[in-house]
Amino acid sequence: MKNVKPTTGDSSWFVHDRFGMFIHWGLYALPARHEWVKNHEKIDDETYDRYFRRFDPDLYDPRLWARAAANAGMKYFVITTKHHDGFCLWDSALTDYKAPNTPAGRDLLTPMVDAFRDEGMRVGFYHSLIDWHHPDFKIDSLHPLRDLPNAAELNAKRDPAKYRAYLHGQVKELLTRFGQVDVMWFDFSYADRHDEAKGFRGKGRDDWGSEELVKMIREIQPKILLDDRLDLPGSGDLVTPEQYQPMEWPTVDGVPVVWEACQTFSGSWGYHRDETTWKSPAQLIQMLVNSVALGGNLLMNVGPTGRGEFDERALAALEVYGAWMRRNARSIYGCTQSEFKPPVDCRYTQNGKRLYLHVFNWPFRHIHLEGLAGRIEYAQLLHDASEIRYKEFDANVATHNTTLAGRAGTVVLDLPIIKPNVEVPVIEIFLR
Ligand code: GLC
Repeated sequence: MKNVKPTTGDSSWFVHDRFGMFIHWGLYALPARHEWVKNHEKIDDETYDRYFRRFDPDLYDPRLWARAAANAGMKYFVITTKHHDGFCLWDSALTDYKAPNTPAGRDLLTPMVDAFRDEGMRVGFYHSLIDWHHPDFKIDSLHPLRDLPNAAELNAKRDPAKYRAYLHGQVKELLTRFGQVDVMWFDFSYADRHDEAKGFRGKGRDDWGSEELVKMIREIQPKILLDDRLDLPGSGDLVTPEQYQPMEWPTVDGVPVVWEACQTFSGSWGYHRDETTWKSPAQLIQMLVNSVALGGNLLMNVGPTGRGEFDERALAALEVYGAWMRRNARSIYGCTQSEFKPPVDCRYTQNGKRLYLHVFNWPFRHIHLEGLAGRIEYAQLLHDASEIRYKEFDANVATHNTTLAGRAGTVVLDLPIIKPNVEVPVIEIFLR
């Protein structure tokens, strides 16, 4: 297996568990048209406060969320403690812009952490470096107020050192109030994104105080896994490809790294009522398999509603994962990239002497496995443990009354004509 770059935090559970739930939840669930709505529509604080005054998730029960995640086969979760709009889910001592001061009237984070831990899941915090509400966060090219004629004047009164202290103070709250936090997921730096005409600068490591921040985090929670978005190369444990599928195992300086793809069910991280690009069941399963087949994890996102529920589209997508994982999870947990090259339209995942063949496109009768002659002890369909018989090739060997011109060293699996009733059928191969 590949020599992977060691992590500072404890990644032993992470590279086993493979599958997590991202949750984007906050005031933006009420406009219900993307978590960047404040940026997209250049909404000022006074207008956006309508959502603060109306945020009342009366149906919120994080035990239902945690149960849905666990039933989907997810083993950890990452929650937006604060997103770019600056709204905080927990009872932060450093701001009034928080859930207890909305009609929700309470800390929403503690019961969520408790519920997911009760389901045996690991805890991750997403925390936005960006804050479009904080009075000392300088207006820049991403800020909702970026087109104000007096933006430069407003910026002159904003003290970035005060924002840095706020950012570090809140991260300290998050890492000292909620027990062991397993993942810290910052988002995001844009150090080179300037607007010279308006005098806007991008924001990166100096704006966040990234070096001191990482030092503090590692002191408070030494086992925590850190992502790679602090604009501080080498400080992170995880590479986090977003909304795309890598074609090979991601590397840093040529060395394979621990990595996690983050994806959405639809085209929005936050709840979006009218967005209809929801992925098909096949896409959902294939994205998970593709990630593990390249030695990585999948963090799949849910955007709960303003009433505090996973909507029926999200629940249906989670059930697709649950139905598949119930019988195929051992082709995911503890697995990684295989030493073998998979056949066309297939992926391999491997866990020691267990090789898993994921069949994305069910063929007629046969699949040829190169380089596996003499290596296979037994094969079965994973979902029902029904035997899959096979022939091994020295060269051309007559079989089934025909001659299957197989290359030397190939094994030919004999498949049922009809695709099993499984979104992505998996063949479990027991290697000698
Ligand atoms: C992008 C989106 C942000 C989301 C993040 C998740 O940065 O802009 O809204 O939280 O991806 O990785």
